[in-house]
Amino acid sequence: MVAEDENNDEICQEMEVEDPFCLESSPLKLTFEDITSAAYKIKDGVIKTACTRSHLSSVVNMELYLKKDFVQYTGSFKERGACYALMMLSDEHKRNGVISASLGNHAQALCYHGKRLGVPVTVVMPTVAPIIKIEACRNFGATVIIQGFNMKESKHIALKLSKEKGIIYINGYDHPHIMAGQGTVGLEILEDVPDADAIVVPVGGGGLIAGVSLAVKTLKKNCKIIGVESDRVPSFTKAMEHGSPITVEGKSTLADGLAVPRVGCNAFATAAGLVDKMVSTSHLNPLSLLNKGPGYNTQSHSSSTTR
Ligand SMILES: Cc1ncc(COP(=O)(O)O)c(C=O)c1O
Repeated sequence: MVAEDENNDEICQEMEVEDPFCLESSPLKLTFEDITSAAYKIKDGVIKTACTRSHLSSVVNMELYLKKDFVQYTGSFKERGACYALMMLSDEHKRNGVISASLGNHAQALCYHGKRLGVPVTVVMPTVAPIIKIEACRNFGATVIIQGFNMKESKHIALKLSKEKGIIYINGYDHPHIMAGQGTVGLEILEDVPDADAIVVPVGGGGLIAGVSLAVKTLKKNCKIIGVESDRVPSFTKAMEHGSPITVEGKSTLADGLAVPRVGCNAFATAAGLVDKMVSTSHLNPLSLLNKGPGYNTQSHSSSTTR
């Protein structure tokens, strides 16, 4: 374990490679127009998913709606941002292709839409990435590099390659076009459930909650935004306490998409003033959230809504 940690540090301290779209010194705040532009652009490439009343409503004694983004082709909302980010590339960058690092959902989304739109995609996935997601990326014809013991290392490798090859690195939660695409979830939720009192959003790097909170607070100021993260990696909660992104010492969790030890600087700058509450919950018992009292008692695959 110690040897692995030393190796991690060696790889990552070798030379920090900056992502020009995600600079902690000058974070970018998303605008509502970015999200409406994304909604228009991705409408033919991404499924407009249902947000329907759940049978759990009677169990939790409230009207509970679940947004079903797991029906997207690759199984997650990540397609929204990936599709928009690829569509927004210049022709030259579309020809050159893009690179990213991901444990799975963002990688699959990027590879799928890359194939659909004719953009070459390279993904660097850590050795702990689920084999089924690695295979899915390969089946979409992407270049898949399995390198790095964790996301930090894989990201470092991908950023280095992006510099060497002159191709764009697309951060899966903090690139502005990714956040804008994810924000379309918020627009759709309010279309289907216009009188929602609160929307519960899972938080990893913060891209989804950044887009959703901006979309929702712009259209319906009094609708509460409640972020949920794993109590094993409470990086957004700690960033809120600290006033800016801060690295937390993460422990492994079954909710691998939420295991991001430092939230994105653009995502935090966009979402921080819009999130009403953060809740940490156990990955072993996600439904424990249902017992935390009124106002924040829901849980779902993507986002859920109460009224
Ligand atoms: C299913 C699922 N939900 C939530 C998240 C968190 O999204 P974000 O990293 O934008 O906060 C992820 C991230 O990979 C995910 O795959």
